[in-house]
Amino acid sequence: MSGSFLQLPDTGTDRCADPVLISNLARAIDSSTKHHDLIDVPYTLGALTAALREVEALAVNRHKCLAIPIGVTQASLADVGRKIRAYGAAAELSWLVGVLRGDVLTLGRLQFERTLTAGTRAMHIPEGRPLHPAVVDSSLGSARTYFGEDPIVCTSWLLDPSLQALPATSNIVNFAQRFEIGAFNADEEADLAVAKFVFKRPLQEILDPNKFVPSTSVQRLVIARLRAGFHWSEPRGTLR
Ligand SMILES: CC(C)(COP(=O)(O)OP(=O)(O)OC[C@H]1O[C@@H](n2cnc3c(N)ncnc32)[C@H](O)[C@@H]1OP(=O)(O)O)[C@@H](O)C(=O)NCCC(=O)NCCS
Repeated sequence: MSGSFLQLPDTGTDRCADPVLISNLARAIDSSTKHHDLIDVPYTLGALTAALREVEALAVNRHKCLAIPIGVTQASLADVGRKIRAYGAAAELSWLVGVLRGDVLTLGRLQFERTLTAGTRAMHIPEGRPLHPAVVDSSLGSARTYFGEDPIVCTSWLLDPSLQALPATSNIVNFAQRFEIGAFNADEEADLAVAKFVFKRPLQEILDPNKFVPSTSVQRLVIARLRAGFHWSEPRGTLR
């Protein structure tokens, strides 16, 4: 059963789990507070996947204690393997821990934080199949059924207003139009985020026309703005 919920890829070599990383993860999974204190230890992709396999049962048990239905646990924990496949050892450890702890639940195509923050429920968009409007509707319907009617918020590069220049048929355009956008800043932090989610490579590399050629319409739009010297943004939107 090891690896079955997390859907971890086979990373080949370096299967030796690091005991410090394992106990670090285990403590964070068991911590009673959301602000799990992770010790910053260096690790390889092999050591990370090996450690994640070691703590899988702990995560499944925590979900059980929180009375999370097994189907939701299964869908939610699969994000760990998804993130490792997308970003390798650069997958954000604190995010993975949040998923393992059941702080972030997957309901259909989207993810929702289990507990409210200042009366709002944060939504996230995992990597995966296209964000067709019907798929978003279905996921939001599941969230309403599971959690109730709390206001849903999303903070994302997907809500940067310049993406509205994409064709009206774009799923991103449709998705962003569901949100009321508040005040926001464009800054280097958002540039780094968009480099990660759209290019999966370092910002400096995509800024150099000799090193990277965009291949999709979103990549072309983002890169044109960044290379023209503008910053990207990650606005916070409230679902209308
Ligand atoms: C959210 C997501 C599924 C939307 O993809 P989508 O449903 O295909 O979106 P659209 O219909 O608007 O796509 C329009 C075009 O942009 C491309 N595109 C969309 N998202 C892209 C991305 N993250 N990277 C590169 N290209 C992307 C599509 O392939 C399509 O290309 P084409 O017009 O050249 O054929 C996709 O961006 C994704 O998987 N993102 C990663 C997760 C993420 O960013 N989460 C938010 C974190 S804050």
